[in-house]
Amino acid sequence: MPSSLPNVAIVGATGAVGVELLRCLEERGFPLASLKLLASPRSAGKTMAFRGQALTVEALGDDSFVGVDLALFSAGSGLSKLYGPKAVAAGAVVVDNSSAFRMDPACPLVVPEVNPETLADHYGIVANPNCVAIIAAVPVAPLAKAFGLKRLQMSTYQAASGAGAAAMEELRASTEAWLAGKPFTPEVLPHPYAFNLFSHNAEVDLESGYNGEELKVIEECRRILAAPELPIGVTCIRVPVLRAHAIAMTLEFDQVVSPDEVREVLAGAPGVRVIDDRAGNHFPMPSEAEGQGDVLVGRVRRDLGDPSGRSIALFVAGDQLLKGAALNAVQIAERLFTADAPRPHAVELAHA
Ligand code: A2P
Repeated sequence: MPSSLPNVAIVGATGAVGVELLRCLEERGFPLASLKLLASPRSAGKTMAFRGQALTVEALGDDSFVGVDLALFSAGSGLSKLYGPKAVAAGAVVVDNSSAFRMDPACPLVVPEVNPETLADHYGIVANPNCVAIIAAVPVAPLAKAFGLKRLQMSTYQAASGAGAAAMEELRASTEAWLAGKPFTPEVLPHPYAFNLFSHNAEVDLESGYNGEELKVIEECRRILAAPELPIGVTCIRVPVLRAHAIAMTLEFDQVVSPDEVREVLAGAPGVRVIDDRAGNHFPMPSEAEGQGDVLVGRVRRDLGDPSGRSIALFVAGDQLLKGAALNAVQIAERLFTADAPRPHAVELAHA
């Protein structure tokens, strides 16, 4: 008898996000009939644990999607462009973590807490937004709805995980080398990472001076917030943190707004946890965002650079691999394939 539960595939299962996709499916009890793990031929034959079973990784190929109902892609935009349409042709719905389809009007760009209604209209591919865009949109959207958003200014502090498992390893190895006083030549990222920070490694547009990450964040935030003209400024920086991004942001509203009013909206916002202890100087940190499904928000205060009283400054931290990537993708899949979404997320991280 055919099962009514979906057959699921993860493309890029061995990567930094792929491993978390597997874990989110397991920890959230995603109902599925079968799970297929796909990666490059280098990983074929390797096994990964899922619900107490050892699943064997297969090499991605043209026949990989026969019988697959849901394909979670996280293997880079080139492979998404090549294999995403093949998966759709084979009958699967694709949730794609790359930038390949994010600005395609036919592909919804979804943060489930913000714009789940856009899922109603897709032709087989749903785009998972850029990690900074997701982590920013979760607190910004409810504030924009409550007070009307006129302008958004952000500076990011981005973890190595956004550049993949190899970049995380380079951060570890270069830090060890630095501490041992040994030379280290970076191969994955363009600059020394240990005890350093640098402008995001995406290609810089020579005309505007903005890099590709910054341009993605601007375009995607506008699309997720359904505010195509919203003025957004952003500076994206890589910092030597393994897997959680932080963002300093200033929001200019249509009206005068107090920090208490902002805190009240944030306290009731889905996917947000307020950490705003002024007396204890305890605010969102990457180390506390790691492993959390929620986006941590704090340092809620008036922006003294805007005497009108309409601007509020915040500091935000979110796990890049979870809410910034795998968790958001699985939450999208839950909306598509299960009746009882949404549900909270609790993850035990095995490392720090
Ligand atoms: P593999 O581990 O076999 O190289 P990350 O973003 O952490 O760098 O992960 C990228 C993911 O994309 C990995 O799972 C990687 O598999 C996968 N990948 C890279 N190249 C290919 C390819 N040609 N075909 C299928 N999967 C690929």
